[in-house]
Amino acid sequence: MYVPANVFTNDDLTKYMDTSDEWIQERTGIKERRFANRFGETTTTMGVEAAKIAIERAGITPQDIDFIIFATLSPDYYFPGCGVLVQRAMKMKEIGALDVRNQCSGFVYALSVGDQFIRSGTYKNILVIGSEKHSFAMDFNTRSRNVSVIFGDGAGAVVLQPTEDANRGILSTHLHSDGDNAEILALFNPGTHANYWKEGLADYDNAEIGELFESHAMIEKGQNHATMDGPAVFKKAIVKFPEVVMEALDKNGYSPADIKLLIPHQANLRISQFVQQQLKLRDDQVVNNIQKYGNTTAASIPLALCEAWQEGKVKEGDLICLAAFGSGFTWASALLKW
Ligand SMILES: CC(C)(COP(=O)(O)OP(=O)(O)OC[C@H]1O[C@@H](n2cnc3c(N)ncnc32)[C@H](O)[C@@H]1OP(=O)(O)O)[C@@H](O)C(=O)NCCC(=O)NCCS
Repeated sequence: MYVPANVFTNDDLTKYMDTSDEWIQERTGIKERRFANRFGETTTTMGVEAAKIAIERAGITPQDIDFIIFATLSPDYYFPGCGVLVQRAMKMKEIGALDVRNQCSGFVYALSVGDQFIRSGTYKNILVIGSEKHSFAMDFNTRSRNVSVIFGDGAGAVVLQPTEDANRGILSTHLHSDGDNAEILALFNPGTHANYWKEGLADYDNAEIGELFESHAMIEKGQNHATMDGPAVFKKAIVKFPEVVMEALDKNGYSPADIKLLIPHQANLRISQFVQQQLKLRDDQVVNNIQKYGNTTAASIPLALCEAWQEGKVKEGDLICLAAFGSGFTWASALLKW
């Protein structure tokens, strides 16, 4: 894992918008988050820092990596993706680099893609990264306070390798989506939608061609920032999280009591507590670190996994369940035998 050094507390946010430490902690559990160095760090560079540690712990070198999968919703460039920037920054061979755009469930989706390549015997050392630099694109005005108090920056990475032991590693992954709710948590502009799917998502200047992708009117109205219907996300998340965890457990003949650690995407502490209650899990079975980092989207699961491992909570043979839900909506789980 890699998180920027700069700690941004809830009180720091009150300098920019009408909010309070009490409101944020009560609704989300978040006390502070990290914000990247504005010009010195990018989504890719943070991913590279996490990747260096993962590669070293795997006992290999960047030249041994034979495939890169990079999950993010805050890429350095609109295109090309961050995967190729990692390939360049880490001086890797001319290997494949794939970017995954599944927001909060991006890391589990990326892990699932990597798992298929490992199972098929195509690749032997796959680097999977989840990284976000939310601080750069968020709106720090009161109008967006329900979004901007939640998110933080950071990165996590893992190296996937094959094993001969059928009872170890990734036992199964489960991926889902429901595009009916695509506009509930989204960043529409700049984009090519032209209000096709829904009226009023963007105001265009009166151009026949050109200046459509990003207009002055859009920027003036703040339509170039993420929007979220928080209560709608909450309602769906508390149903889909337990469902997708149970799907993974059922598939492999386990029950919630067998889980050593559930590592949920760190969306909101209240969501994780609700899921814990639904699944009747003890406190020591659920990893929560959103208090320190906020919601780091594609980075949150590898970050929480890394911290749990560093704290000695993840031992060989442990049953670990990763689960995520977020924008799309997409949701996913992975069951691992460490
Ligand atoms: C975002 C979330 C914390 C908002 O909490 P909520 O109780 O649903 O709040 P609402 O959006 O209904 O707003 C309630 C009030 O708080 C206000 N409010 C919103 N954000 C605020 C903030 N940061 N500070 C102070 N007040 C705020 C609203 O303006 C509203 O005021 P009003 O009643 O006067 O209109 C909550 O909906 C949530 O966590 N949803 C899930 C979001 C999530 O997990 N997203 C990531 C998915 S991966």
